[in-house]
Amino acid sequence: MKLMTLDEKIGQMVLYTSDWDLTGPTMRAGYIDDIRKGNCGNVFNAQTAAYVRKLQKIAVEETRLHIPLLFGYDVIHGYKTTFPIPLGEAASWDMSLIEQSARVSATEAAAAGLNWTFAPMCDISVEPRWGRVSEGAGEDPFLGSRIAEARVHGFQGKNLSDLADTLTILACVKHYAAYGAPVAGRDYNTVDMSERVFRDVYLPPYAAAIKAGAMSVMSSFNELNGMPATCNKWLMTDILRGELSFKGFVVTDYNSIQELMNHGVAATESDAAALSANAGIDMDMQSTYYQKHLKELVKQGVVSEKTIDDAVRRILRVKFMLGLFDDPYRYCNEAREKRLEGAPAHLEAACEVAKHSLVLLKNENNALPLKKGEKLVVIGELANSANNLLGSWRAAGDSKMATTILDELRTYNGSQNVIYSEGCKKMGEDRGGFNAALAAARHADKIVMVIGEDCDWTGEAASRTDIRVPGVQTELLEKLKTLNKPVVVVLMNGRPLDLSREDKLADAILEVWFPGTKGGKAITDVLFGEYNPSGKLPITFPRCLGQVPIYYYTKNTGRPIYLSDPKYKSRYLDCPNDPLYPFGYGLSYTTFSYSNISLSGTALKSHGSLKATVTVTNTGKCDGEEVVQLYTRQLVGSVTRPVKELKGFNKIALKAGESKTVTFTVTPDMLAFHRADMSYGTEPGKFQLFIGGNSRDVKQASFTLN
Ligand code: NOJ
Repeated sequence: MKLMTLDEKIGQMVLYTSDWDLTGPTMRAGYIDDIRKGNCGNVFNAQTAAYVRKLQKIAVEETRLHIPLLFGYDVIHGYKTTFPIPLGEAASWDMSLIEQSARVSATEAAAAGLNWTFAPMCDISVEPRWGRVSEGAGEDPFLGSRIAEARVHGFQGKNLSDLADTLTILACVKHYAAYGAPVAGRDYNTVDMSERVFRDVYLPPYAAAIKAGAMSVMSSFNELNGMPATCNKWLMTDILRGELSFKGFVVTDYNSIQELMNHGVAATESDAAALSANAGIDMDMQSTYYQKHLKELVKQGVVSEKTIDDAVRRILRVKFMLGLFDDPYRYCNEAREKRLEGAPAHLEAACEVAKHSLVLLKNENNALPLKKGEKLVVIGELANSANNLLGSWRAAGDSKMATTILDELRTYNGSQNVIYSEGCKKMGEDRGGFNAALAAARHADKIVMVIGEDCDWTGEAASRTDIRVPGVQTELLEKLKTLNKPVVVVLMNGRPLDLSREDKLADAILEVWFPGTKGGKAITDVLFGEYNPSGKLPITFPRCLGQVPIYYYTKNTGRPIYLSDPKYKSRYLDCPNDPLYPFGYGLSYTTFSYSNISLSGTALKSHGSLKATVTVTNTGKCDGEEVVQLYTRQLVGSVTRPVKELKGFNKIALKAGESKTVTFTVTPDMLAFHRADMSYGTEPGKFQLFIGGNSRDVKQASFTLN
């Protein structure tokens, strides 16, 4: 750093998109020139080993100090091989598979020359209207935290020293903070929440990712309680560096420094740059304001040189950790890239993760599993779309590598046993294909209808005010139902939908999210019982939009619904309080029974622990996996406490007829929260403890915390 001029330092704080633009118009034409002059130390959206090498060569051979570039990219759920969307992966509740998915993604991305991903997205959300709910791990801070850790370990490796491996990439925790709680679910909208909710619910996954070693953080687009994240010193410095001891660097989201003027907290470009730098934002993604204004701001004394030095030190430290000063190319070359992208083992992993991510929401009248040789009619545009399988944020994902649900069903069941009729488009209003679909269905034993959302209706800037299945798809389902044949609905979507109508019409519903390159195969395996579904919802599915936001860790209120008073209690006149499918819910082709909970004692001492044990039995006829979930409730607190909070889970495999005991160790630190005075810790008193296969159907025990 002693060798660096102020210009060169500021250059390290700049990140520009290359001409492989993904998220918007490229703001600067002459960025290669900026790299050459040392004015741009980091690039994103560049791809391919050859192209990355070309840019890196300019940085390391033509700039005065030869400092290598970081190459960032949105490697969200796969690079070439596409895994299920993150919300789908979360439904697997399988941390080692989630870690593996991130590891494969890192491997392929690193082979293409990248060294930095803008993931994991750690935004808790209870907002199905928000299209980006698809990119996160759902509603729960405990599950979200475990998933955040797994993703960081997958991308970066378990130890910080693993960052120097040439097939790991730097993780970026985003979108810090509370981006998942926009008012009315409209993307980028205002976030206003109490500090208590922020700290107890929204902050933990970001904190867990940082604790797991993530060395970069992205500030979010939104404001939090009046202060945009991009100039929020409390978030970026006090909490992140102070409380969470974060040692990496913070980058803005796309163009966010410029957007401070739209937010109305900066009058000029220069003010916006100063506010961000002084809040603790180290790197400017795309706004150009750091490049244009920081030098002058330092001269004027508005931004101190120490602020600049701190930022540059954080960025360069990470470049050292990645091994870029040893080999700026990290061995990336076209041969390795070709060998690793879409490698057979990667596709196999994608299939495995996809199978585990599917959630069986309903299964009556033995609709599922299908039997080989049954005559099927397959209906719906989505059954025949390879493109939609990949979902949004597919990085370099290539739909040509994917096979459709229809193709996979034909391969498995024989083409002669699978008739296809589109019936209707996923989003359109045209009923012209209904009759053909109905005619085709008359000849079938069972109807498989694939319905849902277009993959571009989730993700960034894809909010909805209506969370029902779009278009006329459900209308066609209604008509098919009149044929009195079993109807299986395969549901492709990136958010909790209002499925009240479909739940009444379909005999079986399989939630498949956007399942990735191998989704067609995974779905076929599950439909035919080659794999017994084991996914559980990481987010509540409401009965209707009017219930939103709805989540299992609700408060009891002063007038809970179970009061005998017929009128004055917390309820709706036109809809029950409970959701259609609760958090943690998902069926299997087998059934599981839970014994009562046996607790090793009834008093938990402040330094002690209790063991809570249940015996889970597979009471059905086939092998299966079950996610055993542990919840607690503090009955009386200095502030009101949720009626349930997830504190542990364990995914176990049980052969037909087999029983296993599952033991959770309960320790006081698991019961800590932000108390009335905002200090973090526990409070003595009575607790309930619940264990079950979802957040609703549980066994119960009690203990006291001394
Ligand atoms: C905007 C998105 O909010 C963020 O998630 C993404 O990483 C950046 N653009 C870069 O593409």
